Amino acid sequence: KILILDFGAQYTQLIARRVRELGVYCEIWAWDHDPAEIAAFGAKGIILSGGPESTTLPGAPKAPQQVFDAGVPILGICYGMQTLAAQLGGATEAADQREFGHATVDIAGSSRLFAGLTDHTDAHRLDVWMSHGDHVSRTPPDFVVTGSTDRIPVAVMENQTRRWYGVQFHPEVTHTKQGGALLKRFITEICGCATLWTPANIIDDQIARVREQVGDDHVLLGLSGGVDSSVVAALLHKAIGDRLTCVFVDTGLLRWQEGDQVMATMAEHMGVKVIRVNAADRYFKALAGVADPEAKRKIIGGLFVEIFDEESEKLIVAGGKVKWLAQGTIYPDVIESAGSKTGKAHVIKSHHNVGGLPAHMKLKLVEPLRELFKDEVRRIGVELGLPREMVYRHPFPGPGLGVRILGEVKREYAELLAQADAIFIDELRKADLYDQTSQAFAVFLPVKSVGVVGDARAYEWVIALRAVETIDFMTAHWAHLPYEFLGKVSNRIINELRCVSRVVYDISGKPPATIEWE
Ligand code: XMP
Repeated sequence: KILILDFGAQYTQLIARRVRELGVYCEIWAWDHDPAEIAAFGAKGIILSGGPESTTLPGAPKAPQQVFDAGVPILGICYGMQTLAAQLGGATEAADQREFGHATVDIAGSSRLFAGLTDHTDAHRLDVWMSHGDHVSRTPPDFVVTGSTDRIPVAVMENQTRRWYGVQFHPEVTHTKQGGALLKRFITEICGCATLWTPANIIDDQIARVREQVGDDHVLLGLSGGVDSSVVAALLHKAIGDRLTCVFVDTGLLRWQEGDQVMATMAEHMGVKVIRVNAADRYFKALAGVADPEAKRKIIGGLFVEIFDEESEKLIVAGGKVKWLAQGTIYPDVIESAGSKTGKAHVIKSHHNVGGLPAHMKLKLVEPLRELFKDEVRRIGVELGLPREMVYRHPFPGPGLGVRILGEVKREYAELLAQADAIFIDELRKADLYDQTSQAFAVFLPVKSVGVVGDARAYEWVIALRAVETIDFMTAHWAHLPYEFLGKVSNRIINELRCVSRVVYDISGKPPATIEWE
């Protein structure tokens, strides 16, 4: 396994995902993580991430001595390289201008890391991607320069005996064409890691761990229909069979026929024990007259916890053996990032999933996805036999249609919206556009707009369509869906849903607009 020390770069998770994709397990720890634990972790190689600080300023973050004492290969990326230089007796220089984007690195001399990797036929050169201010101006003793660009003299440096490497560019981003090959070379050849981190192995490993953890006890899980809780259900079912009970709350604010689909997939197809609670009436009643988005979110979340508690209490009272609560916590929820020291705690997922159980239940947490990235969760989901369509579904907010019906939520609005949304999604799939968009959905606007029905004028509702492309959901572009496609969706919605007279398409980016409308 590989240890990644995080100096606060936005790309640190990307490094970890690349390493995992290569089939090697890794963890991300903050640079100031307990050094004794770093020594005890037993990594076969250590990667130092980039970061926003400058080694030229006092108090700059440093790699702990244990990193150098471990006797394993080190790869410093960007800031990670600069701190290697600064800590080992070299020097760095602050620049007045940042270098951002494409660069060409000339590889000189022999380097095990770069042997045979090139993007040019005439010379040993790599096309790479840079994002830095400072750069290394003098290598530490025992280091040689093996790469430079026309802007920086030291783009790659290495101590070949100790197998310590520093690269100023970012091998983890796809713009660095040989980045994947370089990381692979470092991890498999130089560090000697075996590539055992595959979906099948992850599943076997987790099943063994869950069995050991829960013994003969029973486990409770709140199933939401989303990817994470579905994968937890499939995994636990495989590990402990009928000792897993899932509670699925149908809020009436789910996607079209989602409640039936969850039951068909999880209960009928996979054989998981699922208790479905049809709670739509309770939700619509609780939401009557409430227009404020945050108030709606609170009511929806609160009611979920209430219903889940009622159901679990029934089960616990009846069976007496439920000792564990399973959660779909995933690795990005727990990463102890350099920016925050809070990540280490057991995170209770704030949205939709279980918000907290009464203290007297005293359930212990089992979180089999705690070490996995979303793409890994999806891959093991497929391996466990969940339908690809479910595993690769667009994200859906915890409050569901509750925040896609602007203002007051009513049953008739929810039914209309679910149908409009289903038409949009159906057409996206038919046109092969679904996987090209990151998230797409319909929004119900509670305004009446004029339309002509026969010879008469009718005032009916408006549906907005939203489709975005994004990597991290923090920023997003609106999807440039073809006009003909949008026309077809609009026609279908207006023809099939009598209460809708107008369909509009949202062309706002995030920021400033958010992805959801509330
Ligand atoms: P925004 O609208 O903030 O959305 O640009 C970013 C991502 O978060 C989802 N989202 C939510 N998810 N509970 C959730 O579980 C919420 O209250 C919520 N609000 C937004 C949204 O669907 C998008 O994927």
